[in-house]
Amino acid sequence: MSHLGKFKIAWMVGIIVLFVVSFGLNTEAKMSIEKQPFGKTPDGTAVDLYTLTNDNGMVVKIMNYGGTVTSLIVPDRNGKMGDVVLGYDNLDGYLKNNPYFGSIIGRYANRIAKGRFVLNGVEYKLAQNNGENHLHGGIKGFDKVVWNAKEVKTGNGVGVELSYLSKDGEEGYPGNLSVTVTYILTNNNELKINYLATTDKDTVVNLTHHSYFNLAGAGEGDILGHELMINADKFTPVDKTLIPTGELRSVKGTPMDFTQPTAIGARINQEDEQLIFGKGYDHNWVLNIVEGALTRVARVYEPKTGRVMEVFTTEPGMQFYSGNFLDGTITGKGGKVYYQRYGFCLETQHFPDSPNKPQFPSTVLKPGQTYRTTTVYQFSTK
Ligand code: BGC
Repeated sequence: MSHLGKFKIAWMVGIIVLFVVSFGLNTEAKMSIEKQPFGKTPDGTAVDLYTLTNDNGMVVKIMNYGGTVTSLIVPDRNGKMGDVVLGYDNLDGYLKNNPYFGSIIGRYANRIAKGRFVLNGVEYKLAQNNGENHLHGGIKGFDKVVWNAKEVKTGNGVGVELSYLSKDGEEGYPGNLSVTVTYILTNNNELKINYLATTDKDTVVNLTHHSYFNLAGAGEGDILGHELMINADKFTPVDKTLIPTGELRSVKGTPMDFTQPTAIGARINQEDEQLIFGKGYDHNWVLNIVEGALTRVARVYEPKTGRVMEVFTTEPGMQFYSGNFLDGTITGKGGKVYYQRYGFCLETQHFPDSPNKPQFPSTVLKPGQTYRTTTVYQFSTK
C-alpha cells in the first residue's frame, strides 16, 4: 500500500475512534417528554403521566388528574438526585386521600368566608368544605378533575399544556370558565407555570399550585431546618377560622418576619395568636411586588443538602403553609410516612376571601378580559 493509502486509513480510524469515544462520554441528558398511562378515575377516564426531563437531567412528572406534579427530581450540592415533593406512587393514593399534594387549585384557591359572596348584587353559595368556610374550589375543585393535555416544546424547555372548561354553576361559581395551565421545565432548572382563563359571565378566579416541598427529600424528616426568605413587609392576619380580618399588618417584630433568611422552625412554636390560629404558619404574605411584574418573592435553602428553591411570581400574595395538618396518617412515595411539618407549600395567589374584601386586589374576571399570571420555582444548590 502506498504511503498516501496508509495515511488515509489512519485518518479514518482516528475519526471513528473519536466518534465512538465522544458518543460514549456523552451521557448528558437531553430534553425529552414521555407519556405513559397512570390508571383510571372511578368513572373510567384514563389518566396519563408526563415525564419531563431537561438537558441537566432534572425531572418533573405531571399527571393530568388535577394537573398534579407527582415528582420533582433535582440534584443536591454533590450532584445526588432527590425527589423534593410529597405525593403518592400511584393514582389510587391521590383518588382516596389527597391534601392537595402537587395539585392545581381553583376556581378559587384558599378560603372564602362562610362559602358565600355577592357579585353584581347576586349572592352565590359555595360548598362549606372547611368548617364553615369554602376551601380550594369546593368538593370537586380543579385538583380533582381530569384536564386535557398537550405536549409542548420551546427553545429552552419541555412542558404540558393543560386545559379545562369549568361549566357555569360548577361548584356554585357563575360563568363558563375556560382555563389553561402550562407547566414548562426549562434548562435553567425552573418549573414555570403560566395560568390563563377567560369567562362568558362575571366571575371570581384565583389559581395556584399546591406542591408540598421538602428540599432534603420527600419523607426525609421535617422542614423546620429549612431557611426561608419571603420578600414581604406585610401579611394578612386571620381570625381563628383562618379568614383574613381585612387588615394588612406589618411583619416587623413578629414571627411572620421572613425578610431576612430564617429557619422555619425558629419561631413556629411561639405563643403567638396568629401561629395558634394556623397551628403554625398558614398565612398569606403581601408580596413586595409591582403587580404583574415577575418578581423574586421567596428563597428557601436546605443546609444539609445545599438545595435552594427560589420563587418568582406576578401575583400580589403568597400562602406559606408549613404542613401543620399532616399527621402521620399518610404513607407516601416509597413507603415513607408524612408527619406534621414534613412539607411546606408556597402558594402564589390573590389574597384569601377577596370576593368579600373590597379593599383587597380584585379577583373578578369579566367577559373579554384574560386572567394571566405566572409563577416560577427555580432550583439550584449552594
Ligand atoms: C391551606 C391550609 C390547608 C391546606 C390543605 C393550604 O393551602 O392554607 O389551611 O390545610 O391547604 O392541604
